[in-house]
Amino acid sequence: CGIIGILGRTDVAPAIVEGLKRLEYRGYDSAGVAAVHQGRLDRRRASGKLANLEAVLAERPLPGAAGIGHTRWATHGAPTETNAHPHATERVSVVHNGIIENFAVLRRELQEKGRRFESETDAEVCPQLITHYLETENLSPAQAFHKAISRLKGAFAFVAIFAGEDDLMIGARRGSPLAVGRGHGEIFIGSDAYALAPFSNRVTYLDEGDWVVATRAGFQVYDAAGAPVVRKETISSAADALVDKDGHRHFMAKEIHEQPEVIAHTLSRYLDPASETMRLPEGAFDFARLDRLTVSACGTAYYAGLISKYWFETWAGLPVEIDIASELRYRDVPYTEGGGALFVSQSGETADTLAALREARARGQKIAAVVNVPESSIAREADVIFPMAAGPEIGVASTKAFTCQLAALACIAVAAGRARGRLDAEAERALVRALLETPRLVAEALAGAGEIEAIAREIAEARDVLYVGRGVNFPLALEGALKLKEISYIHAEGYAAGELKHGPIALIDKDVPVIVVAPRDALYEKTISNMHEVMARGGKALLISDREGIAEAGDGLWRAIETPTVHPLLAPVVYAAPIQLLAYYTATAKGTDVDQPRNLAKSVTVE
Ligand code: G6P
Repeated sequence: CGIIGILGRTDVAPAIVEGLKRLEYRGYDSAGVAAVHQGRLDRRRASGKLANLEAVLAERPLPGAAGIGHTRWATHGAPTETNAHPHATERVSVVHNGIIENFAVLRRELQEKGRRFESETDAEVCPQLITHYLETENLSPAQAFHKAISRLKGAFAFVAIFAGEDDLMIGARRGSPLAVGRGHGEIFIGSDAYALAPFSNRVTYLDEGDWVVATRAGFQVYDAAGAPVVRKETISSAADALVDKDGHRHFMAKEIHEQPEVIAHTLSRYLDPASETMRLPEGAFDFARLDRLTVSACGTAYYAGLISKYWFETWAGLPVEIDIASELRYRDVPYTEGGGALFVSQSGETADTLAALREARARGQKIAAVVNVPESSIAREADVIFPMAAGPEIGVASTKAFTCQLAALACIAVAAGRARGRLDAEAERALVRALLETPRLVAEALAGAGEIEAIAREIAEARDVLYVGRGVNFPLALEGALKLKEISYIHAEGYAAGELKHGPIALIDKDVPVIVVAPRDALYEKTISNMHEVMARGGKALLISDREGIAEAGDGLWRAIETPTVHPLLAPVVYAAPIQLLAYYTATAKGTDVDQPRNLAKSVTVE
């Protein structure tokens, strides 16, 4: 979703709509604006594209010099006008981006206290909660806002305006980006500098957990605990703003940090948080009848596919044949009549993947694609598209596309499990809940960036690095090694932890860091034993696990990176964050060209 808010000097609705046009790439299921005029809140909303909202505004203009706007990508609730943002009570109007995990609990609590909800969205709990605090605790708008956001769980961004306050706008960033732009006696808040570009080039990015209280005279940023903080203002050029780095040094860093937001967007394409069920696009595979699924892709997308094999097997009992696209297309695969083939691609233009797709089609397979660019060749040629919503990925080394591919594939595998009767409604609900937590858990994992940077400076000295994992984390070890090679040019290999002893252990000496991906799942102890085999031979073990996992691993670790505890099968979605940060900071320590590493291309359209 896209957010914009303006404290202006004249009626702001037309400018907000202009700003929203630049955010339409974030979704266009519905749109809306709200404004404070003569102390009262009012709003206009419309389902469908922004043009529909413009038509509504042409007929019924919205006066007011303080306003907020939103363009929506439906998450909770259908893209109707009632579910469109801004959501409001008489006291406060709010636009929101992201997922509020605990909205159902809060909603029930507020309903029991007599508050009446008008939409099915998770976002509506925000204005309702703020109003509750305004009315029952006699708090100021800023106090009520802070108290309300402190109760919310999830990854999101908000902006609010208040009745009776035509010189006040409050915003919060947690997991989804938010930036403040300063004009002459005007203030702008938006999802990114691109949205703010028509209004201001003096842009301040909020840090994770920050919230901001703005008036026309200026603004004050607070941290999550409520302490005033100062965040640096940057001058963005119009050109920068076009493809903006959100204050990061590289696109790769920006894209790594965008993951909580875009994973949430991708999940929202598949799951309905209200009913805790999964839904697939029209015309998807008839999973109940499928006897085998062929999965293929290249590079990072292939590793996402490889992880999905474990999910399809465990949740759906569906046999999966998987191979790299450049191999699959030349193999004499014994395809069966009426089989299904699934291709995974960020760009949708990878020549090898496209060729494998065409070969599978020629062999009578039904074709589906998990693809990020909807107008790409692979998307056009597939029978059904399973969308992912990573947004444009500029850094050559894939990061957010990978976790969004995982999010989409996990949803598809759960839906397949339901269709095949392997998962019952209760199991589906539990997995939906676990998936809904992943954006927040990824945000928590990203918060450890500082420590990872310090470790990366040491990794930068290595000539070779090994990555190991088991089960669903084995492909993540492969991806970790690929990330490191791609951008730092350090030689790295990923292995199944159990395979180390069958050869690669010969490489171990005191100079070879071994990165062990070991969440506390059923295979944890086995992986830890393999790690000790490395340590016994003088190898330097870096363990990635949660707090208990690190504590239980025993002495002698070279380094450890702590991650939040996550559903065991969904660990790769969260553990991808430290894996990516490690590669990123190793590369920046070495000074390589992170966004455009040598010899690589973002989308390889040759065989
Ligand atoms: C290139 C990129 C990789 C990417 C692979 C597949 O090799 O450098 O990062 O994973 O292509 O790209 P696709 O667009 O099909 O996901």
